[in-house]
Amino acid sequence: MAPTVLFEKTEGVGLVTFNRPEKLNALNREMLMELEQLLDQVARDPQLRVLVLTGRGRAFIAGADISLFVDLDPLTGKRFAEHAQALVSRLEHLDIPVIAAVNGYALGGGLEVALACDFIYASEEACFGQPEINLGIIPCVGGTQRLARLVGKGLAKELCLTGRLLDAAEAKAIGLAARVFPTGVLLEECLKTARSLAEKGRVALRAVKQVINRGYEVDLASALAMEIDAFAVCLASPDAREGALAFLEKRQPRFTGSL
Ligand code: COA
Repeated sequence: MAPTVLFEKTEGVGLVTFNRPEKLNALNREMLMELEQLLDQVARDPQLRVLVLTGRGRAFIAGADISLFVDLDPLTGKRFAEHAQALVSRLEHLDIPVIAAVNGYALGGGLEVALACDFIYASEEACFGQPEINLGIIPCVGGTQRLARLVGKGLAKELCLTGRLLDAAEAKAIGLAARVFPTGVLLEECLKTARSLAEKGRVALRAVKQVINRGYEVDLASALAMEIDAFAVCLASPDAREGALAFLEKRQPRFTGSL
């Protein structure tokens, strides 16, 4: 059987492709396990600088495989949600930037995976939503929480209560998708951005990601203190001096990512 999660790496950029197109890449147990194994591999790979996630066919991920829900009871459901949340949190807290290249349906668990990425680039054919309400359940992999933090409480409630689907233009207008591209160029644009991120200082990239993620969870004064600490950590890397010198010497910086 073909893997349900494909991975290829080119010059520090990893491309993850969800590969169950006949089921619109719905997340079944096999995919969750393969994604978990992939995250182990990614976390151990010091050469990897940026990750791009996308889906084969018409979907990014059209949600959890609904057949999983038929036999869930409160206990097994809780375990499922805990397991899936832990997996998605690992993705969110990877040291390197992660871009969601949303090529089609990103529904339910698919939107929840995209929300755990650092930002979303969407194709004009992308379609987003948390339609769990139509199945008599609610999002359980962070959808109610990360969506509210990204687009605001009112919109998140409207989307989770109605289960309605958004097109790419609306997703962009509400700040869910950072940018929208014509379908044929989405992946190349994502890889181009990924390559440009791969050339930046690794310490500073990690600092931005950590300080925005963690700062969002605490009060402003604590978050600002985190920002100062993260700035100071950047100055411990030769990359900070190299960046300033390169600007003054009118040349491209050569970042090493060392601390
Ligand atoms: N779980 C399991 N199977 C799914 C699925 C999901 N979340 N989403 C799509 N599929 C399957 C369909 O059952 C169908 O399989 P089949 O050909 O064996 O019958 C195949 O993927 C294609 O989907 P289909 O519904 O025929 O495509 P469509 O273009 O008519 O509709 C959607 C696309 C995304 C609107 C529709 O598939 C849908 O509503 N999916 C469920 C979305 C959802 O509720 N996700 C949250 C789950 S918690």
